[in-house]
Amino acid sequence: MHNYRKINNDLYYIGANDRKISLFESVYPVLDGVSYNSYLLKDDKTVLFDTVDKHERTQFFENLEAVLGDKPLDYLLINHLEPDHSALIKDVIEKYNNIKIICNQKIKDMLFQFFELESDKTPEFVVVKEGDVINTGNHELTFVMAPMVHWPEVMVTYDKTDKTLFSADAFGSFGALDGNIFDNEVQFNEKISEYRRYYTNIVGKYGLQVNNLLNKAKNLEIKTICPLHGLILRENISYLVEKYSLWANYKPEINSVLIAYSSVYGATQNAAEILASKLAQMNVKNIKVYDVSKTHSSYVLSDAFKYSHIVLATTTYNNNIFVTMEHFINDLIKHNLGNRTFALIENGSWAPNCACSIINELKDLKGTRILDNKVTLKSTLKTAQESELDNLAKLIFDDIQLIH
Ligand code: FEO
Repeated sequence: MHNYRKINNDLYYIGANDRKISLFESVYPVLDGVSYNSYLLKDDKTVLFDTVDKHERTQFFENLEAVLGDKPLDYLLINHLEPDHSALIKDVIEKYNNIKIICNQKIKDMLFQFFELESDKTPEFVVVKEGDVINTGNHELTFVMAPMVHWPEVMVTYDKTDKTLFSADAFGSFGALDGNIFDNEVQFNEKISEYRRYYTNIVGKYGLQVNNLLNKAKNLEIKTICPLHGLILRENISYLVEKYSLWANYKPEINSVLIAYSSVYGATQNAAEILASKLAQMNVKNIKVYDVSKTHSSYVLSDAFKYSHIVLATTTYNNNIFVTMEHFINDLIKHNLGNRTFALIENGSWAPNCACSIINELKDLKGTRILDNKVTLKSTLKTAQESELDNLAKLIFDDIQLIH
């Protein structure tokens, strides 16, 4: 049975939810699953916008067939070739005779990396470049190249007629769709943390390229965004574009403190919890504390994009940084998270020296500041050392006030 939904006069949502998946891209936990969005434009010519992951084949084809009815499928338009959207391309080509593929040259080249097509089954390609226009009857589609948002071949498609942007991975989110497929059918602001986690982990590294796309999109009047994951956007477009602008420029959303710790026997956690309490008593709001050994790094990284100040508290291990903290710091670096102010707490029972290693690792991140007065623990926090935590809290507090 189908579960497609009509978006407007000629456009239909024909995607599917994957609720069995545990790890998106085999790395990111998705407790609420993920949606693979696909769309069908039923104009004089019919256009399928991308497909879905192979696990959701049945629902996708039931939706596609139900909306098509007795019309032929004229075009498959491919915006992005990652298999969560492209897995069924070969099936579509084999099922619908005479279908033409609309894509750019890079997509065409990469298509044959993923699929072996018999020569007599190879469809006709309509290769487009930036600004080209395809008329489907009442609709005019034009194309904007968006390399590295999130792969090099990515493009987005703009329907001039309905002012709809088919944005590929951009403006997407983790989380399956629960019947409500439009942003104005849900409490959208409650969803923003998963939009942030999706953005920061998937394309956070490519702020420059995201900015390029945002700048091009400024020239388009956009009433609807149809992404490849998550809700269709109508009412929260400017809100999400503002968030994207912050994230792409590595600007924090709030002036507050994220404390990320790793602690083998609890002593480093103890110092982190006491520091959080001291900051709260100084009236710092919205402090967030994470144990990086327990919480998946994708969540901590996501909040690192949100916060202005980050405290790293960790033990020394193998004469270096503790493994889970090393992993988190590596995530910060790999995602180019600059413009943050760090404070450090190090621990060690005989050679506490991981702060030096952390400073060395963070030094190449653009706009990074590291506050003086690191706190060094030897095994546990001693009563006589509490003033050091007081000083660190005061330093962080004063620094936050400076950016108000
Ligand atoms: Fe949702 Fe880059 O694929």
